[in-house]
Amino acid sequence: MKACPQCRRTYTADISFCPYDGQSLLVASDEEEINEDPLVGRVFIDRYHLTARIGEGGMCTVYRATHVLTRKLWAVKILHAELAAQRRAVKRFQKEAQAASRIDNQNVIHVTDFGTSEEGYVYLVMEYLEGLTLKRAVQTDGPFSMDRILHVSRQIGDALDAAHAQNVIHRDLKPENIMLLPTAEPEREIVKVLDFGIAKVQEDTTDSAPLTAQNMVMGTPQYMSPEQAKGLELDARSDIYSFGIIIYEMLTGKPPFSGGPSKVILNKHANESPPSPRRVRPEISAHVERVVLRSLEKSPLRRPQAASELARELELAVRLAESMTKREKDREKDADRSVPPTAVEDAPRPADPPPPSVKPLDPVVASLVAHGSPGEARPFLLRYLFLLLAVMVVLIVFILLWYLRHR
Ligand SMILES: Nc1ncnc2c1ncn2[C@@H]1O[C@H](COP(=O)(O)OP(=O)(O)O)[C@@H](O)[C@H]1O
Ligand SMILES: [Mg+2]
Repeated sequence: MKACPQCRRTYTADISFCPYDGQSLLVASDEEEINEDPLVGRVFIDRYHLTARIGEGGMCTVYRATHVLTRKLWAVKILHAELAAQRRAVKRFQKEAQAASRIDNQNVIHVTDFGTSEEGYVYLVMEYLEGLTLKRAVQTDGPFSMDRILHVSRQIGDALDAAHAQNVIHRDLKPENIMLLPTAEPEREIVKVLDFGIAKVQEDTTDSAPLTAQNMVMGTPQYMSPEQAKGLELDARSDIYSFGIIIYEMLTGKPPFSGGPSKVILNKHANESPPSPRRVRPEISAHVERVVLRSLEKSPLRRPQAASELARELELAVRLAESMTKREKDREKDADRSVPPTAVEDAPRPADPPPPSVKPLDPVVASLVAHGSPGEARPFLLRYLFLLLAVMVVLIVFILLWYLRHR
């Protein structure tokens, strides 16, 4: 048996990587390491039996839990014990719970409870999601199909619109914070946006500055907007930029700016144009590329102003590209059909207009070829009759002259 050192899920020996978080699995002999978390196996706040660790971040650990009475699965996120004593950290964690619970949307994680346990653990309880992160899905599947990108983007757009309508700016939108829940249909996953850990409620003036204590990560360089990279005031359009980066990554398999130290990446967001997605994946249409690059404009004013607008524009661009490809194909088919048939293959039918490149036949000959009836051939015979008559007149005149001379 093998187990994932991060989420503690167990697998059979033939599996090497955890499909949920991509960690190399450890064999059962490394059990001490697998079970080192003292909270795993315990009943938390008298209700939640913590059965596995399913996520780990700079500030928190997420556990899968079973409610002892209902047996329903939940996810319990607990602030690291060493941070529980820091007032700012606790306040921020509380804000995460408040921000997420303000948004009632099927594509946003549903948070049901928040509090501090008797032993001093600060926690929040949320719906348990059986799926994998968007990060993991791109790593395993590579660039997504256009249909899947549209399907996922539509849902991210709805989630962000709902958050923005409640004045919540996520500020840490990235594929690790988006989960895909498989459905019966392949590539038709339900999307959930999670981790409002550094979200900001706009109307809230008591905490406008992000938490900047050491060892607390504020956003992720690869997905940060230029204004975030410069430490400026953010609004919803910063999330729209991060959303654009996510679409770019689904299209090409990687974000536009990656590799190198954080400072270099942030500088690129602030000052450099993203590389053309079509250079990475040539089959991307110019329309789709234009939409993605517009969402990555340095100036928030030049981006789509709502997340769902970006998703919609992307869909229109894809449909436009599809209809153009179809029209091109139809035109090619038409061109094939208009090639003049060879004499052996097929003689032109009477109703067929002559191909434009072929010189039209003499009307007389054409009428003969086409119809062949004696009536239609009359002008042709008349012409020869006149010629014969003229020759005879000339002959008679010539004979007459000869006769008069020799008389
Ligand atoms: N409700 C949930 N159900 C299942 N897995 C979850 C849930 N919430 C978080 N996770 C897993 O835990 C990871 C970390 O959770 P997150 O809320 O992003 O914490 P952090 O603030 O530490 O980044 C996620 O990437 C995901 O894999
Ligand atoms: Mg996270």
